Amino acid sequence: MHIFQKAADLRSHLKTILRERRSNAIGFIPTMGALHEGHLALIRAAQADGCYTVCSIFVNPTQFNDLSDLDKYPRTPEKDAALLAKVGCDVIFMPEVEEIYPPGAIPDFEIDFEGLDEVMEGLFRPGHFKGVAQVVKRLLDLVDPGQLYMGQKDFQQVAIVRHLIRVTGFPVQLVVVPTVREADGLAMSSRNVRLSPEGRRLGSVIYQTLVAAQSKAMNGTLPGEISREAMTALSDAGFEPEYFEIVNSETLQPVQTMLEAPQVVACVAAWLEGVRLIDNMTLK
Ligand code: PAJ
Repeated sequence: MHIFQKAADLRSHLKTILRERRSNAIGFIPTMGALHEGHLALIRAAQADGCYTVCSIFVNPTQFNDLSDLDKYPRTPEKDAALLAKVGCDVIFMPEVEEIYPPGAIPDFEIDFEGLDEVMEGLFRPGHFKGVAQVVKRLLDLVDPGQLYMGQKDFQQVAIVRHLIRVTGFPVQLVVVPTVREADGLAMSSRNVRLSPEGRRLGSVIYQTLVAAQSKAMNGTLPGEISREAMTALSDAGFEPEYFEIVNSETLQPVQTMLEAPQVVACVAAWLEGVRLIDNMTLK
């Protein structure tokens, strides 16, 4: 496994790989580290597709609207490198902030998300998706992969990146990998390590609320009613829920009925013990 901190070294290595036809596709997995099985599922998906796998570990400052969240974000580079070596990842790219954002060299990043950034995460984390799109674009330019692997766990992020790829015309295929969960249903997340053992147990209530929403939707309860009940269930269990939205998977706008969109997804964000947890589930 190769580890690069400089973009120029990464690029010349990848050029050699492609020139010598040691692989005909670069599969790229962007991450912020503190890796867990959810991240590793993305690496395995890229490997299963026959890709030369490049994983970036970069805690991107521009996507943190809350500076204390940036400070508290877990950083475990040695453990991450050991995990990636174990699963047979080919390359880790671990740049410093100046490598990704050289002072003065990066033009201001503006993109019209056509409303995708104005709901759910966008409402509660102003500027977050602008930062995500900025770093993903920058990393795509540096790595130039044929395939980009991202997790369904961050459903709205996938919609934003799909939009980014469409409007920039970047020649990359986006592959979305299903959410990997703990045995009790809690979606794996780098932030879970900040929960106490009790909080960790309670965390699975988010999953239970999503499963309940799925069966209510199948039994004909209207989305508005399902959302209200889910918000109450989460508050009663000790969470501070921000939103529980049932949305059209394309526009991310809330639906009034399940018939309104071909695919309908329930998305939730809730605080527990000062940790912000998000999850989602396809209802239709
Ligand atoms: P991070 O939270 O580290 O996640 C990196 C990738 O792993 C994302 O595509 C995310 O959706 C995926 N992932 C996280 N938990 C998962 C789980 N339980 N199951 C499946 N996939 C999971 O998302 C980011 O970093 C950043 O915003 C990034 C895209 C790297 C830009 O900075």
